[in-house]
Amino acid sequence: MKEDLINLKNQAIAQISEAKDLQELEEIRIDLFGRNGKLTTASKDIKNVASGEKKQYGIVLNEVKNTLEKLIVEKKNDLSNLSRVWFDPTMPAKKPKLGKLHMITHAIYEIASVFEKIGFTRVKYPEVEYDFFAFGALNFPDNHPARDDWETFFVDQPDSKKYGPMLLTPHTSSGQIREMLSNKPPIRMINIAKCYRRQSDIRHVAMFHQFEGLVVDKNINITNLKGTLDYFAKTFFGPNRETRLRPYHFQFTEPSFEVDISCNVCNGKGCKLCKEGWLEIGGAGMVHPNVLKNCGIDSKVYSGFAFGWGVERTYMMESVLSVPDIRLLYSSDLRVLSQL
Ligand code: FA5
Repeated sequence: MKEDLINLKNQAIAQISEAKDLQELEEIRIDLFGRNGKLTTASKDIKNVASGEKKQYGIVLNEVKNTLEKLIVEKKNDLSNLSRVWFDPTMPAKKPKLGKLHMITHAIYEIASVFEKIGFTRVKYPEVEYDFFAFGALNFPDNHPARDDWETFFVDQPDSKKYGPMLLTPHTSSGQIREMLSNKPPIRMINIAKCYRRQSDIRHVAMFHQFEGLVVDKNINITNLKGTLDYFAKTFFGPNRETRLRPYHFQFTEPSFEVDISCNVCNGKGCKLCKEGWLEIGGAGMVHPNVLKNCGIDSKVYSGFAFGWGVERTYMMESVLSVPDIRLLYSSDLRVLSQL
C-alpha cells in the first residue's frame, strides 16, 4: 500500500507540472484532495492497513499530501502570474521602433516644394518607356552611343512599331516629350523620377533620381533659365550660393549648358572638393527647335528652357562631407542611414 502512495505521488507530480491553466490545475486538485479524491480515500483506507504498518503508512501519506499541496500552490502562482502578464490590458505595450523617410525622399519633397512655389506643377510619367520618348523625339540620331546596350537598360519586349524598343528611362527628359505632347503651352513642369544607367562608382549608381524642369511659353529666354536656377540654388542651398552656366552639348537643347554652383566649403575661392570654387550639378539649356517641332509646338511662336539635375548629387552637395560615396545612399546599412 505504501508503494501505491509513491506511484500516486509520482503520477500527480507529472500531472501538476504539465497543467496548462488554472482550471486544469483545479481539476487535478479535486481529483487528489476532493471529497472522493484519491488522497482522501487513501486517508480513509488507513483503517485497512495492518497494525504494524499503520505508522509508516501515515508518515508516507502525510509526506505525499504535503508535497502535492505545496506543488499545487506553486503551480497556481506560476499560472496566475502568467495569465496576469498575458492578459493585463494596463501593461504598457512594447514600443515598435519607428522608421523614417529615406533622405532622398526628403530631398525630393523639398525640391518639389521649392519649384511649386514659383508655379511649377509636379508631373509623373512612365519609368518604363519607349525609345521615341527617351531618345528619338529628343533629337538623338539613330547611332547615338547613349542607345548602346552598355549605357541603357533595354526591356526584353517586342519593339513598338511607332515608338521603337522598350527601355528603363535613362533620364527624366523623356517627361519633356510626354508633357509637350499632352499639353499646350504655357508649360511649367517639374518631373522628379527614377533613372537607370549601367554605371556604378563613387559618383554613379545604376538607379538614381533626377529632377527635370521644363518651361515653354512665348518669349522665354536664357535669363529666365538663369533666374530660375539661381532661385533654386539660394532657396535650397542658402542665400549666398550662386550658379554659373558653362557651354556644353546636349542633343535636345540649343544652346546647352552645364550648371555649376558655388562651393560652400571654400566660398568660391577654390579647394580640393571643387573646381576653382565651383561644383558641377547638372545640365540645362534652351529647348531645341527640333524637339518643339517633334511635339507639335511652333518654335517661331514658342521657346522654352529645360534643366535636369541628379537628386542624389544635389543632396550630397547639401551634406557633402557626410556622404563620401553615392552608393552608400542605397546600401541599406543602418549605420549610414540612421545618421542622415
Ligand atoms: C542628363 O541626363 C540630361 N537629360 C540633363 C538635361 C536636362 C540637360 C534638360 C539639358 C536639359 P546628364 O547625363 O549630365 O544629363 O545627367 C544629369 C545629372 O544626373 C548629372 O549631373 C548627375 O547629377 C546625375 N546623374 C547622371 N548619371 C548618374 C548616375 N549614374 N548616378 C547618379 N547620378 C547621376
